[in-house]
Amino acid sequence: MTVDSAVTAIAHPNIALVKYWGKRDEEYILPHTDSLSVTLDIYPTTTTVRLDTALDRDQVTVNRAPATGEMLTRIRTFLDLVRGMSGRAEYLRVDTTNTVPTGAGLASSASGFAALALAAAVAYGLDLNPTGLSRLARRGSGSACRSIFGGFALWHAGTGIGEEGDLSSYADPIDAGALDLALVVAVVDAAPKEISSRAAMRRTIETSPLYAPWAESSHQDLADMRAAITRGDLDAVGEIAERNALGMHATMLAARPAVRYLSPASLRVLDCVGQLRRTGIGAFATMDAGPNVKVLCRGGHAERVADALRSLSDTRSVITARPGPGARLPDGDS
Ligand code: PMV
Repeated sequence: MTVDSAVTAIAHPNIALVKYWGKRDEEYILPHTDSLSVTLDIYPTTTTVRLDTALDRDQVTVNRAPATGEMLTRIRTFLDLVRGMSGRAEYLRVDTTNTVPTGAGLASSASGFAALALAAAVAYGLDLNPTGLSRLARRGSGSACRSIFGGFALWHAGTGIGEEGDLSSYADPIDAGALDLALVVAVVDAAPKEISSRAAMRRTIETSPLYAPWAESSHQDLADMRAAITRGDLDAVGEIAERNALGMHATMLAARPAVRYLSPASLRVLDCVGQLRRTGIGAFATMDAGPNVKVLCRGGHAERVADALRSLSDTRSVITARPGPGARLPDGDS
């Protein structure tokens, strides 16, 4: 028999409160700015890998269907990297189950590559500490480096490019003390996006006159966000997250041609969030590379926020998340 024992890893998506948007090194996936996120307790990805000496290429299924196209290429390129690091040559059978809609701006690549990085590192015998794992996950999808950690995480942009940049760019967990945060996810459209975040980032950097000012203001957002988290000031956390996300979308709208992920339904959710605020509920929105909106609020308000979002006619589903765990092996040895 050529198949070694299986390694299974689980990881959850994370949502950035101060966003990553734009790379200074595409090959090493090194960002221009630091970013800060919260890992959720919903939508886990479970990935099982098996070394198989009979294979002459990695075989990948996602939700039981064979992976194809760009997704398969990205996974194989990533596994080539892990093999290079470990000095091993065998290919893998990879079976992934995603509970989050893929490619809809709901951070499926973050949970996906965090789970794959952990499972593949263990399968190939790489001895990585959490920082090393975070660096490795970053090479699959930038935001995945933050899903290695549970709760709040800060991804350091680091300095330099290539190998030097690689060493300096990873996520660290952040202590968010008693911050009672809930994120209510309003899914308005679960279809895969028309333009990948990778392509959209490149176009934004190359053509948007608003990119540089946003990246500059993002430094202040990060400093303000860290101070708000330390104070346990949830309203400030929400305000900063919302302004940072809207600014990121403004950079895309100013790209040539424009990248627009937000739909009329997204804007109706934003209206609803504004309405909630006027009734005294601290609710704030953040949006990624897709039309779906995540609404930050205190845990005690999550039910009312979810009810308000559900009452909108174009909301497909509403699910409430709390800070969740980092990437792990379910049998508990990581
Ligand atoms: O990791 P990627 O390439 O899927 O980029 C994700 C970027 C955003 O989700 C839009 C922002 C972020 O920081 O997660």
